[in-house]
Amino acid sequence: MKLAENKATLSFSNGSPSVDLPVYQGSVGPDVIDIRKLYGQTGMFTYDPGFLSTASCQSAITYIDGDKGELLYRGYPIEQLATQCDYLDTCYLLLKGELPKQEERSEFHKLVLSHTMVNEQMQFFLRGFRRDAHPMAVLTGLIGALSAFYHDSTDINNPEHRHVAAIRLIAKMPTLVAMAYKYGVGQPYMYPRNELSYAGNFLRMMFGTPCEDYKVNPVIERAMDRIFILHADHEQNASTSTVRLCGSSGTNPFAAIAAGVACLWGPAHGGANEACLNMLEDIQRQGGVAKVGQFMEQVKDKNSGVKLMGFGHRVYKNYDPRAKLMQETCNEVLAELGLENDPLFKLAKELEKIALEDDYFVQRKLYPNVDFYSGIVQRAIGIPVSLFTGIFALARTVGWIAQLNEMLADPEYKIGRPRQLFTGYVARDVKPVSER
Ligand code: CMC
Repeated sequence: MKLAENKATLSFSNGSPSVDLPVYQGSVGPDVIDIRKLYGQTGMFTYDPGFLSTASCQSAITYIDGDKGELLYRGYPIEQLATQCDYLDTCYLLLKGELPKQEERSEFHKLVLSHTMVNEQMQFFLRGFRRDAHPMAVLTGLIGALSAFYHDSTDINNPEHRHVAAIRLIAKMPTLVAMAYKYGVGQPYMYPRNELSYAGNFLRMMFGTPCEDYKVNPVIERAMDRIFILHADHEQNASTSTVRLCGSSGTNPFAAIAAGVACLWGPAHGGANEACLNMLEDIQRQGGVAKVGQFMEQVKDKNSGVKLMGFGHRVYKNYDPRAKLMQETCNEVLAELGLENDPLFKLAKELEKIALEDDYFVQRKLYPNVDFYSGIVQRAIGIPVSLFTGIFALARTVGWIAQLNEMLADPEYKIGRPRQLFTGYVARDVKPVSER
């Protein structure tokens, strides 16, 4: 970051002296006002719950221009990555900063694909869960437990440990997600096949059985890979900030990523694709397309607490570029599987059409986000709704790791420790029980 020529001056109406604050420029995007010395100079904190105006770090990984609807990983537009690269190329890019050359590409693919197996003991750990447990509950546990299985890569301050942990996490996530699924449906686990692609291997571990050969459908394989690419990173969102904050204490990489998985679970974040599909199924049960108007009235009524899931985004206020790519994939997958007339897809189209024309949504700049379409694609592929967020976690793991590594390499990094505006009681004495 570069010091800008101008400064910000903060003045006070009570006559306290004004304060000059340095301003820094990034390569693109809003400048930032450096308030690190503000407390020392004025005795005041800034107040910004939800981080609406606060940059929590400097980063060179992912850039989003919400007004333009632009998403760049290391400078490359998501549209180009989604059409010209695969997920492991994208992982390499996010971790190392550049797209791999031919030889680097083969080496990296080989490296990741030769670490796909998990310690056999993980199966017994998994058995401790109820069969009907939510896959995100299971995954939070399984990923946290990796630190109990891979002791030789838990030192977050050791770059070699971090590298090994990164490859292990990226390689083993598909295996763990598939195991969580197979455990829930009572089918035998499928061991990974390393000659398949990353996405193809995942599909086989999910839908194959030991009874017969599983043939990977290239359209579905490409769709899966695209879901992974589109979810690989998204700058300082809630789960990534959680990973950074958790890692800032010096905890091990597996624990930091498990914290990200837990955060991602929420319906306002990664849980939105599950919530979106549940919403569509609810409307379908109540009468389908005929009930869309009534449902939209509820969404617009502030007192109803109903939101149109899969719509709106904190940063994208024009359109979500991932949603466009996912919509394309959605059409391809539904055509491949002969599901173009699927009632739920028709319902989604109807909701989308009304929302895009309705003043409530237009005025608030609410557009479909990636989750609106990714849920439909995953359902068509046969992935159960409760596993959607687990797949998001699988894909986002590389982003979390890249961001964590970037933070640890930043000489300005400190343990994260927000302050507060205290509004509770000032000091008071404990009274005996009889007098309370
Ligand atoms: N349905 C109806 N109204 C909405 C919606 C929605 N989905 N999203 C926002 N609004 C309204 C909101 O009520 C507010 O109205 P008003 O100004 O009258 O009070 C206005 O739009 C601005 O919303 P906000 O809550 O201030 O916006 P935010 O930036 O805090 O929230 C969001 C962003 C994604 C949490 C929110 O849009 C939402 O809850 N959407 C549904 C859940 C969803 O699809 N999440 C996935 C996000 S994309 C995947 C990811 O990156 O994790």
